[in-house]
Amino acid sequence: MASEPVNIWEMADLVTPFAVRTVATLRIADIVQDGPVPLVEIAKRSEARADPLGRVLRFLVRRGVFTEPEADLFGPNDASRALQSDAPSGSREWLDLDGAVGRADLAFVELIEQIRGHHPAYQAAFGRSFWEDLAHSPHLSDSFDDLMETKSGSLAPAAAASLAWDRFDVVTDVGGGRGLLVAEILERHPGVRGMVVDLAGPAHGAEAHLESRGVRDRAEVVVGSFFDPLPAGSDAYVLCDVLGDWDDEDAVRILTRCAEAAGPEGSVIIIELLPDPDGDFTEMDLRMMIYVGGRMRDLDRTERITAAAGLFVASVTRLDDGHGIIECLPDR
Ligand SMILES: C[S@@+](CC[C@H](N)C(=O)[O-])C[C@H]1O[C@@H](n2cnc3c(N)ncnc32)[C@H](O)[C@@H]1O
Repeated sequence: MASEPVNIWEMADLVTPFAVRTVATLRIADIVQDGPVPLVEIAKRSEARADPLGRVLRFLVRRGVFTEPEADLFGPNDASRALQSDAPSGSREWLDLDGAVGRADLAFVELIEQIRGHHPAYQAAFGRSFWEDLAHSPHLSDSFDDLMETKSGSLAPAAAASLAWDRFDVVTDVGGGRGLLVAEILERHPGVRGMVVDLAGPAHGAEAHLESRGVRDRAEVVVGSFFDPLPAGSDAYVLCDVLGDWDDEDAVRILTRCAEAAGPEGSVIIIELLPDPDGDFTEMDLRMMIYVGGRMRDLDRTERITAAAGLFVASVTRLDDGHGIIECLPDR
């Protein structure tokens, strides 16, 4: 529960978030990273109009992002450096209004529509679902896969280090994106083989990534949908940050496909964010609802959907970043 006094106006402000996201999209922090640059030059390099851009920058200077040492001359500070493309947090890319997630955030404008039961928010904002949008736009699809790669940069090593993956001969990562987790598991365990199943864009990225990690000879990449039958014969089927994208009905369909492929001896391994000690993952839950009609689940709800797919939760390993590795076995 929040214990600080709440300032409702600050909480409800839309001006600051849009100003920050606009300069992130225009890469203004990159342009001024070496020192103050005249406004006209910033406008030229960001392909923006000087007058409205200057007004946005002056607003942000007042809020502590960028400096204005002289009129119409803008420079960097610690806050603006966090928006540079080379910042380790990747904040610029997450906030980029032309990128998959920054664009999806704009669908929050339609939250009220979704709650009134009129339209799913993303569809109301953009005319088609998030996944359809990615399928229509290589730029959005690449930007989403880039963001997932940033996210997996720390999650994949932690997950690979936290389970005895060498119990398995073959591990299939279902909706495995560019294959970071499979690469990490294969690097650690030379006796394990891997497979990534995903849609065409990320699957092609997985081929390149597995090649670059030197494990391509032990890994197969399959273009396919997890709503269709999955290649059988692996010992473990992993769903990492996948089920949160889907409502319970679709999540059960995906789990059922994994359980069918795993057969009576195989494991289905869910890696998902679990509630933090305060029981709070409500922000991510709303994001999933708005972007893709999905939801976050605590362990009880996860147990219910796994049971509906004929599985039971055999073990849970918690990672420091809030994810849990939930190993499920067939409920015979
Ligand atoms: C949130 S991302 C997670 C990616 C990866 N597992 C990771 O942790 O970085 C969800 C993944 O599900 C994939 N996906 C979405 N719909 C799919 C479908 N019908 N069949 C297979 N993969 C799908 C997306 O392409 C994406 O790679």
